[in-house]
Amino acid sequence: MSQEIGREIKVRIKRFSREKGSWWQEYPVKVDKYTQMTEVLKRIKEEQDPTLAYRASCHMSVCGSCGMKINGAPKLACRTIALDEVSRTGSNTIEVEPMDGYEVLKDLVVDLDDFYERMYKVTPRLKPSQEVLEGKAQHRLTPEDQSRLWKFAQCIWCGLCVSACPAVKTDEQFLGPAAHAKGYRFLSDPRDTISNERAKVLIDSAWRCTYCYMCYEVCPRDIEPVEAIKLTRTFTDKFGPTGEASKLGERHSKAVEESIAESGMLQGGKVYLKTYGLVNSLISMMELMKDGKATKLIMEKQKKVKGLDELKKLLGERQ
Ligand code: SF4
Ligand code: SF4
Ligand code: FES
Repeated sequence: MSQEIGREIKVRIKRFSREKGSWWQEYPVKVDKYTQMTEVLKRIKEEQDPTLAYRASCHMSVCGSCGMKINGAPKLACRTIALDEVSRTGSNTIEVEPMDGYEVLKDLVVDLDDFYERMYKVTPRLKPSQEVLEGKAQHRLTPEDQSRLWKFAQCIWCGLCVSACPAVKTDEQFLGPAAHAKGYRFLSDPRDTISNERAKVLIDSAWRCTYCYMCYEVCPRDIEPVEAIKLTRTFTDKFGPTGEASKLGERHSKAVEESIAESGMLQGGKVYLKTYGLVNSLISMMELMKDGKATKLIMEKQKKVKGLDELKKLLGERQ
């Protein structure tokens, strides 16, 4: 990676104001190998254009306020070195836009009210027992539990994962990745006393994630919200399904497991039938018949799977 001292780059910023609407504006900025994108924006605002609006505070990936899109990807500006972007893309121009999925208030500043509402829906704090509150009992976490929960407690509420999440945009009942990471952190804390209430809020929503892993890709704290969602789904066994999505999800998981135990393969037709029921399966079959895909599905021959007995033994041991 070549990083020159004092190189001039161009920064193209997507501006917005209620009065003028949206437009792109370009600024030349001199940077060195240490210049963060927050510093770039600060220099533009102080030296060239005081009307530019953006958020940043700590400049060290702690406060979570500088989320934006840099060269098309959701990132923390303070964690992004300008010349690294130039080397990565091979272009001397860096494009900066507000995060997707939020209403833009001005330039790079977005409205995070909806994000905070989602976070508060999962009660993002521990509810200890009365004895602990009165100082009559200890409030200790084992080192094992501490290391298991540590990752999910590192969220800085930056909103990047929600900005990248396709499920949030299409499903109003999905809480989103950050709220799930936070919710799981307390749902699985043995010291917490409101697991039932948490389960009611979290379980059905967890089955609405599409497992696209975008939240995993963009999180600057390596929290892996999708992992929290997978783990929350496992609580369905304990608390039961709490809505339509979790009922469907539970049926689907069981159908997949039964199919593999029976044949060593995923038998698409059978799994679909067990998941969605006869009526819905017939409707879908008629849709498939219209474009000729049904015949292919019906004619598909099941191949014999080698080592099926061994697989059945393994599945039996797991249960
Ligand atoms: S894995 Fe789930 S939570 Fe994460 S971005 Fe995709 S749909 Fe959203
Ligand atoms: S989970 Fe990661 S990306 Fe999402 S809000 Fe928290 S720190 Fe930001
Ligand atoms: S300025 Fe605080 S996280 Fe970037």
